[in-house]
Amino acid sequence: MALVRWYAEMGVDEAVAAEACNWYALSKPQSETATPPEERVRASVAARAAASPGAPPPMPADEAVAAAQQAAALCRTHDELEAAVRAFEGCSLKAGARNTVFADGVAGAELLVIGEAPGRDEDAAGKPFVGRAGQLLDRMLAAIGRSRKADTLISNVVYWRPPGNRAPTQVEIAVCRPFVDRLIEITAPKAVLIAGGVPLQALLALPGIMRSRGVWRTVETKGGAKVDALPIFHPAFLLRSPAHKRLAWADLLALERRLMGS
Ligand code: URA
Repeated sequence: MALVRWYAEMGVDEAVAAEACNWYALSKPQSETATPPEERVRASVAARAAASPGAPPPMPADEAVAAAQQAAALCRTHDELEAAVRAFEGCSLKAGARNTVFADGVAGAELLVIGEAPGRDEDAAGKPFVGRAGQLLDRMLAAIGRSRKADTLISNVVYWRPPGNRAPTQVEIAVCRPFVDRLIEITAPKAVLIAGGVPLQALLALPGIMRSRGVWRTVETKGGAKVDALPIFHPAFLLRSPAHKRLAWADLLALERRLMGS
């Protein structure tokens, strides 16, 4: 059971072929062959496709970004956008995920929280921020009188769980970004709460949540919308480092003041 649990935590939670397969044996080590890295990537992609014949081949990143831009631009409502994200096949994370995790809460809310990526619990439930970090996020919002039931919308910078809960890559983030931009435009919130370093980098191209938290910025979408945004520590970080909750509390109060217009 411990081994199975460990597999699940690492993202190995699905059988992809009837027989176990040594993927390393399919392509010889670099020292034995002079195969360039792109060739080896192509070979391993082909091997994966052969193992799961129903799966579409992955799209090149620039095509995937263009397809996402096109699909997102056609959406006029939250529901249309959700349907477009669910139908989108350009993000390679989708193949390994159980569910698309789009958003949870009130469409058109005045507060939009954007986190990093779904984890195991979110992947299983199909909703963002439902695990331990999500429960803390709910308590943080409740502390300023807000909730996903009443006045807040919660989403992420990618819509599918990265395997083993690793951080999403730049490409995965870039491919999902047109949908994130469109969500911001359609929601038109008074403020975006940026939860953690990954969305901080993705939305504002800023490194370092330690220095950026608590400082108001502006998120600009490709479509030209500009929205006030406040970076805050990710609740998963606060679970590991409760001493930082004091700063997060100050940030939440600043958020509430801005939302109340003072
Ligand atoms: N962490 C995130 O950033 N997003 C989720 O949905 C869950 C955990």
